[in-house]
Amino acid sequence: MGQDDGFGVREIDTSRPHPARIYDYLLGGKDNYEVDRRAGDELAAAAPEVRIGLQANRAFLRRAVRYVVGSGVRQILDIGTGLPTSPNVHEIAHELAPDVRVAYVDNDPIVAAHANALLSSSGVTSVVLADVRDPLAVVNHPKVRGAIDFDRPVALLLVAVLHFLTDAEKPAQAVAALRDALPAGSCLVLSHATGDFADRSAAQAVYTKATATLNLRSRAEVERFFDGFELVDPGLAQVPFWRPDSPPPPRSAEIGFYGGVARKSA
Ligand SMILES: C[S@@+](CC[C@H](N)C(=O)[O-])C[C@H]1O[C@@H](n2cnc3c(N)ncnc32)[C@H](O)[C@@H]1O
Repeated sequence: MGQDDGFGVREIDTSRPHPARIYDYLLGGKDNYEVDRRAGDELAAAAPEVRIGLQANRAFLRRAVRYVVGSGVRQILDIGTGLPTSPNVHEIAHELAPDVRVAYVDNDPIVAAHANALLSSSGVTSVVLADVRDPLAVVNHPKVRGAIDFDRPVALLLVAVLHFLTDAEKPAQAVAALRDALPAGSCLVLSHATGDFADRSAAQAVYTKATATLNLRSRAEVERFFDGFELVDPGLAQVPFWRPDSPPPPRSAEIGFYGGVARKSA
């Protein structure tokens, strides 16, 4: 790992729940601590369909990656990667095109440590510890530049990450700065938590103890992240309904995630 990727277990905070580890626990993973499992159980009590929702978000990610790779994009910048979850983005992409290059970016040292250990065998995949709140540091990071050629189309993945930014942290400006770094033909794959379909205040309360807060946004607020891109059909949808390839899971109408894929034309 590069010098600014130097992090170790000593930097991993086990006193507070981390979004990546709560997500991992609720998806049935093993890379989590007691504090995360407790928060995950509280979330499941507050929003009984939360596990279905997270699985539906993961299924959206799979379909969206297949869509962008199927449309010819050969580079993926995945910001807010999460702990390795099979199939990982590079695995999904490589099923269709083994030459796809993937840069994984996350601001959680435990994610970067696990991802790096798992992925180091894959020559086309970089793991970078960086923060979407500093988008220029992401796109200018030497390991990102080593994996991604910003003169060729890139699929930018911001899947289930921007709801961890408050409005004061300017998520729309971060997306705009990333968009401006991408050439025409690039894609944005984005999903985001919402309270449009059910009251999520109890779920939000769980995150007040975590390392990041949960900032639910309305359809109009999420759509604004796609400024400068053109949404592909069916536009922004609840994740189970974005180009489904199987019947929707139970309680789909309550699932509090919007997802969409868009293309930058100029
Ligand atoms: C819920 S997980 C989503 C994982 C994966 N994208 C997916 O949808 O399956 C959110 C991830 O975003 C990361 N994250 C949160 N805030 C971030 C930030 N400011 N910069 C980069 N990553 C961030 C967390 O560490 C976590 O790994």
